[in-house]
Amino acid sequence: MCGIVGYIGRKNTKEILLEGLKELEYRGYDSAGIAVLQNDTFESYKAVGKLVNLEEKTKDFITQDFAVGIGHTRWATHGKPTELNAHPHMGESSYVVHNGIIENYATLKKELMAEGIHFLSQTDTEVIVHLFEKNLRSAKNTLEAFSQTISQLHGAYAILLVTKGEDETIFFAKHGSPMLVGIDAQNDKYFASSDTPLIGHCSDVNYFDDGDYGYISADEIVIFDKMGQKKNPHFTKLTQNKLSAQKNGFRFFMEKEIYEQSDVIIDTLLGRLSDKEIVFDELDASLFEGINEIKLCACGTSYHSALTATYLFERYAKIKTSVEVASEFRYRSPIMSRDTLFVVISQSGETADTLETLKMAKAAGLKTLVICNVDNSSMVRLADACILTRAGVEKGVASTKAFATQVMVFWMLSMYVAKLKNSLDALEIAKQIALMRQVPGSVKVSDAMHERIKRLSKRYLHGHGFFFIGRDIFYPLALEGALKLKEISYLHAEGYPSGEMKHGPIALADPELFTIALLPQHLLYDKAKSNVEELSARDATICTISALEFDKADDFIPINSYEDYMLEFFEMMVALQLLSLEISVRLGNDVDMPRNLAKSVTVE
Ligand code: M6R
Repeated sequence: MCGIVGYIGRKNTKEILLEGLKELEYRGYDSAGIAVLQNDTFESYKAVGKLVNLEEKTKDFITQDFAVGIGHTRWATHGKPTELNAHPHMGESSYVVHNGIIENYATLKKELMAEGIHFLSQTDTEVIVHLFEKNLRSAKNTLEAFSQTISQLHGAYAILLVTKGEDETIFFAKHGSPMLVGIDAQNDKYFASSDTPLIGHCSDVNYFDDGDYGYISADEIVIFDKMGQKKNPHFTKLTQNKLSAQKNGFRFFMEKEIYEQSDVIIDTLLGRLSDKEIVFDELDASLFEGINEIKLCACGTSYHSALTATYLFERYAKIKTSVEVASEFRYRSPIMSRDTLFVVISQSGETADTLETLKMAKAAGLKTLVICNVDNSSMVRLADACILTRAGVEKGVASTKAFATQVMVFWMLSMYVAKLKNSLDALEIAKQIALMRQVPGSVKVSDAMHERIKRLSKRYLHGHGFFFIGRDIFYPLALEGALKLKEISYLHAEGYPSGEMKHGPIALADPELFTIALLPQHLLYDKAKSNVEELSARDATICTISALEFDKADDFIPINSYEDYMLEFFEMMVALQLLSLEISVRLGNDVDMPRNLAKSVTVE
């Protein structure tokens, strides 16, 4: 999704902007651009496609001495990914970059055009710069023009604006899209839409709150809150751990992240398992006081992990649990009662739809918990309580290790609540904890499995579609397997509950319909097997993933034999991730940055 960087200082401005954009590249984008203001003169460059194209265009552009600059990676929402639609957008004497969506842009654009203003792009963003310049003509000063502009915008935004006549200053505004500013030892200022571009440059950062706007120059940091009151910046230390990842010999970040799952799950478990109970130091047991129900809300892969939680919470913690897709929940006037704990799940902590549901729950007075991978993200800052998944930086757009750690956290949380509510006896909790300790082993990628899947993948490059099927908690895993395949292979895939196939989809069965069947030995094995037999009888091509070989399958991905279905779950998860990866590689796709997708979806 779109990314923003900004810089005020004496270092090599162009390089700082391009490096910053590189750090945001993994989020997904289709064009990029920068604008630099030096000695009251602008230079701006834009390019469609990857950042190398922008680097090529700017190779003769040298920035020395003091300058201010802004940069942007764009993920198209309004208008195609063209150079004209790429940011920064210019007026007569100003440039703007923007993340988010200006919902009333069409009305504003119509008004501005009626006044003779000419638009170059199809974007919503361009209205900001023209509106600002219009306001500037009558305002007392630049800040007044900027704040008037902000007050006329509806929607979500993080904005940086630079303008001639203020060539030491960047104007900023944040509402609903993330943005922060950092300072380095020389007092240079760096802006970004997430903290990764600032790591290595800044020791301290200030995360803007919704409604914040103002300006920052070489010597001043001026911030106003949403009521227009001046406020002091609140700087906190920025981690200097640039996990930002080399591929360490792997072909893709996604592959590296699949292989990292064993280590990151060890991190997820660290300090949280005792022999008899789950320890979440970050939770106050009072969070569950008066709670009779849990409502989970998330998007995409995080939704799938949330769906696994509904099985685990009801089975073990005996607490009524439901889950909803955040974008649906937002607009359906849901009933929210105060005996419900509202839990949002997000790798990034910035997904606009999920964040909004969290705001809704807070406004309704519900207790809130976020399960998140990014500390200091918007959701972490907003929720009453937080459990970090500790998956480390995930760069592949297709989420893998984040999902693994989310499910791990949910399994632990189900035991934590089971203990609080006395719904499982001590022996059973101890048994589950012992199983949890085996997960790092079950997600270790074996050469044998990877090689087998590599070979097998060549048979699954065509056909008229895939069904991933499973029962119980293996149904959300099937949904996740299908999502992974869709995202990086661009082949049609659906996740389905095995028992539902006969209620419609079985009509599609023929040799060109590929069914990936999850057959855990320890959960409803015979029932799931019968469902596969029904498909096999209709000549569908079947690949089973199981510890037990099944003679009706055309292909078989064996997993180890375990004592419990949760361990089978985690090894099958790895098999599904590898299958998508290898199919995508054979199809020649961009595994880490699949078309049309963004890592962090900060627009609704
Ligand atoms: O950062 P979040 O977990 O909130 O993101 C939610 C989805 O956008 C995300 O899981 C998406 O579905 C991934 N590309 C899945 O691989």
